[in-house]
Amino acid sequence: MFLHDKFGRAITDLRISITDRCNYKCVYCRTGNEGALYGDLDFDDYLRMARVLVGMGVTKIRLTGGEPLLRNGVVDFVRELAKLRPQGLKPHSDSGSNGTAEAVPFQNQDADPLDIALTTNGHLLADLAQLLKDAGLTRVTVSMDAVDPDRFARITRVPNGYDHVLAGIRAARRAGLWPLKVNCVLMRGFNEDQIIPFGMFAREEGVTVRFIEFMPLEEGRTWSPNTVVTLDEILARMAEYRPLVEIPHARSETARRYRFDDGVGEIGIIAPVSHPFCGHCSRIRITSDGKIRTCLFSIWDHDLHAQMRQGASDEELAEFICGVVARKEERHHIGEPDFVPASRTMVHIGG
Ligand code: GTP
Ligand code: 5AD
Repeated sequence: MFLHDKFGRAITDLRISITDRCNYKCVYCRTGNEGALYGDLDFDDYLRMARVLVGMGVTKIRLTGGEPLLRNGVVDFVRELAKLRPQGLKPHSDSGSNGTAEAVPFQNQDADPLDIALTTNGHLLADLAQLLKDAGLTRVTVSMDAVDPDRFARITRVPNGYDHVLAGIRAARRAGLWPLKVNCVLMRGFNEDQIIPFGMFAREEGVTVRFIEFMPLEEGRTWSPNTVVTLDEILARMAEYRPLVEIPHARSETARRYRFDDGVGEIGIIAPVSHPFCGHCSRIRITSDGKIRTCLFSIWDHDLHAQMRQGASDEELAEFICGVVARKEERHHIGEPDFVPASRTMVHIGG
């Protein structure tokens, strides 16, 4: 039983939020509460969900939150996930343009391990990077919205976070968590002047910096089209610093990729607002409280954990998941008159 939605998109990418708590209060995400509205599950529950989904074709698992490194036991959880072997479908890595994210049968079950990634704010990463790598984590993405420490403190509303995050990034690099990506959400009036400094940072630190267009997923409902710094603007600003050359990207990848003309440093741009990539979406999400969400902008979710509590077998869980995926949304409607806000904000979904 392999997972496809009714638009022919293969679901190979699972994101599990393991907590909706966060130790940062980024202005574009949080209003200042403690985060944890929905709570979290035992790791054994997430592990069972992951095992069933890997059996259905998932090849990539990303742990998110809230802040996933706040959960005690995350290293052991990664170690258990790393024992799972993909056995379903392998996504095409070419960047063809027929509009569907097809996948091909996966022949060699012993060959590729699962791709296990983590999105973190990096605050607690320095002490955990090597342990996570040893447990089987493949790679890490660190959210960081300014390279200027004062600006960073104003955005995160946490004093002295910058040094922790930089130490975390460097520790991840030393540990071989690779490719190492830094995500920067740009908001007009807050940090668009950080574009060129981040270009320099990418070159100096040897990381891929990805700029993300701000989406309406924040608790404070401050989004408007004017707050979005678009792909075109980012490219124009960066070109004032150094010329960029586009690199091909996989069809289901969120980011368009660019390297600098001298080959030193890579940046990416994730442009869900100005250049939506829903047509190639290969993702589903499990929230910290065990609900499946088929789109960041879903207006409902589907209680997988309730099925487990009611004693469903793995086969019954797989059937439930197939039914949910069949109803995956075709696309988001950001900026359109019929846009309806998602039923949860980013911190309670997982990025
Ligand atoms: P890679 O596997 O390294 O390519 O990571 P990724 O880009 O899939 O994951 P990451 O968590 O770094 O996602 C980066 C950002 O892309 C997220 O924070 C979101 O802002 C955006 N994004 C991810 N998935 C979706 C999605 O399904 N829809 C939309 N609109 N945006 C998404
Ligand atoms: N729009 C775009 N990206 C966001 N993120 C959080 N909120 C938003 C938003 N409203 C990013 C975080 C992190 C990832 C999980 O999602 O910065 O990198």
